[in-house]
Amino acid sequence: MKDFAGVSISSLVKKYGSPIYIYDLDSMVGAVQSLKTAFEGQVEIHYATKANSHPLILKAFLKEKIGVDTVSWGEAEEALNVGFKPKDIIFSGVAKTSVELTQAIRKQIKQINVESPQELIRIGEIAKKLKKKAQVAFRMNPNVNPNTHPYITTGFRENKFGMDTTFLPELRGILRKYAKHLDLKGVTLHVGSQLRDLSGILDAIQKTIPVFLDLKHSGFHMETFDIGGGIGIPYDGSEPMDLKLYATQVVDLLKPLGCRILTEPGRILVGPYGILVGEIQYIKASPYKNFAILDTGMHHLMRPALYQAFHRMEKVGVVVSDDKVLYDIVGPICESSDVIGRDRYLPILEQGDLIAIRDAGAYGFSMASFYNAHALPKEIIISSKKATTLKKPHLPDSWL
Ligand SMILES: Cc1ncc(COP(=O)(O)O)c(C=O)c1O
Repeated sequence: MKDFAGVSISSLVKKYGSPIYIYDLDSMVGAVQSLKTAFEGQVEIHYATKANSHPLILKAFLKEKIGVDTVSWGEAEEALNVGFKPKDIIFSGVAKTSVELTQAIRKQIKQINVESPQELIRIGEIAKKLKKKAQVAFRMNPNVNPNTHPYITTGFRENKFGMDTTFLPELRGILRKYAKHLDLKGVTLHVGSQLRDLSGILDAIQKTIPVFLDLKHSGFHMETFDIGGGIGIPYDGSEPMDLKLYATQVVDLLKPLGCRILTEPGRILVGPYGILVGEIQYIKASPYKNFAILDTGMHHLMRPALYQAFHRMEKVGVVVSDDKVLYDIVGPICESSDVIGRDRYLPILEQGDLIAIRDAGAYGFSMASFYNAHALPKEIIISSKKATTLKKPHLPDSWL
């Protein structure tokens, strides 16, 4: 691999140093357009900014006229800062604080996805104090198997997310008590991430339709059915999911309800269009293993350490020989879990070589940390073969 998004990777490293994230902005925008085409305008897309909240990506998505799904007020602020309007913002997450909810209600955002009765009471109390009406949706937990890694499964009843139908009598009571300040708009789901088949999502929708209808027949507004995100990407280089099939099946199931359909995709819009590039500091060959030790690792790309995720890796530049050697590609962090790839056949590697880690556009930088007091990698955005980087790391205003 020599280039990414039409630009030489080694020239970017020369200019910006190592390690760096590189994003192909035009392909990210292309992914939004493909999803819009698949849904043929029948679904309101809200990008889950937790996947990657780089301001230039958010700005490009704003131009595509989609909304955002946020899981903290920090994420909502990042979206507001680039020009998203409160009416474009969904607020999800299990632990919204009073401070966060006050902001969301004051700004009258599009929808707060409620995860517990206590949260609904908190929203009702804050809305009453502010003399406002909050738009809410109930996040349901349909107890379905989404066939993904246990750490990114959210739709089992053992998971902390959402509410099953046993919560409904209590929720109805709270809605009645705060009738002037709570407007139940709909239901919302998100059963897991990196889903490689549709069965979990479709099963969840089917199980939640009766809840939607029941609430609608009770007189609540029930205008929206939010199907969440979760569509996976082929980290192994296989075929991506058929978006048209996904869109058709979802719309066919929900059209009879006569409501607006919302979705919250993250990974599919950005994941395949980013790489993380690191430089090999040392090759260490023991009698048992060959280690290629990089200047980047679990602190910059946590997915392999967190949930045994697989990322393809390539040597950057010209490969002169077909010979391959088995390596563990590891990072600098003082943890044995700091392995980006185990037992990988790669061309013979040397100190100073660059390694490109593929499909790092989602849940890469957004999960990065300062662990071991290493600096965060720079993020380079490529658009029309031109590279841009921000002068300082992007952080929500309220942090500073
Ligand atoms: C509530 C919610 N919506 C949407 C998403 C986006 O998921 P994905 O990136 O898998 O599409 C997530 C991610 O976990 C989420 O928690």
